Amino acid sequence: MPFSLTRENPVRRPLLVGNWKMNKTASEAVSIIRELLKLFPANPYPEVVVAPPFTALESVRTVLGSSSIVSLGAQNLHAEPQGAFTGEISGPMLRDLGCRYVIIGHSERRTLFGEHDADIRKKLGAALAHGLWPILCVGESLKEREAGKTASIVTTQVQAGLAELAAEELATIAIAYEPVWAIGTGRAATTEQAVEVHQAIRRCLHSTWDKSVADATRILYGGSVTPQNAGSLLAAEGIDGALVGGACLKPDSFAMIVAASKQPSAH
Ligand code: PGA
Repeated sequence: MPFSLTRENPVRRPLLVGNWKMNKTASEAVSIIRELLKLFPANPYPEVVVAPPFTALESVRTVLGSSSIVSLGAQNLHAEPQGAFTGEISGPMLRDLGCRYVIIGHSERRTLFGEHDADIRKKLGAALAHGLWPILCVGESLKEREAGKTASIVTTQVQAGLAELAAEELATIAIAYEPVWAIGTGRAATTEQAVEVHQAIRRCLHSTWDKSVADATRILYGGSVTPQNAGSLLAAEGIDGALVGGACLKPDSFAMIVAASKQPSAH
């Protein structure tokens, strides 16, 4: 499987991920993907991922066919490869459906489904073990931000989510900084706020692992990204893409966000 982010070539190709959450049936998903494929350029520079619900993965994969424009992602996985875990989905199942990416530790999983850093670390290990590329989500609550704890909360989540992994094991990992107060609220972080936290995460990657990890790891911003704010956020130094919720359900909005991302000349 080709992977461009080698240590020799640490250009961070923008990564735009649509997190559909619990929205759209399989047949609705097919219409959205058909529409999206019409709107995207034949060969967009950013890497584009759609993460529909589990129930739509198969039909979305069929519409994508052998297209290399859009990759498939899942929104969650169980840490075990199989077993008596009613209602859960494993890494090998996702790989078999053609998933390349998996979102891990989204704040909705943390707050609504009780996932803690230790669970998230296990899921991340399972993703890597089964050849899935994890997108580790981190972010502070409004209370934590107001208490001046943003950098420490976020870097603790990064260190816990990636604990004890060797630098070379981090090659396929992306991190999504998603302030909890910005998710689904229409109140995105300002570009300055996002850049500041991205810098803190990159410094943490440098100090915990090394410079090559800090230079090569893609750090995305998520939380109320829209076609209106995407240009400023995605142009900023150190913001390597976006994790998009609400706006990704509208093909024209998602296509505009993808179009707003950095182009090769910007590197
Ligand atoms: P939002 O969601 O874009 O609707 O704020 C982002 C996310 O939860 O990943």
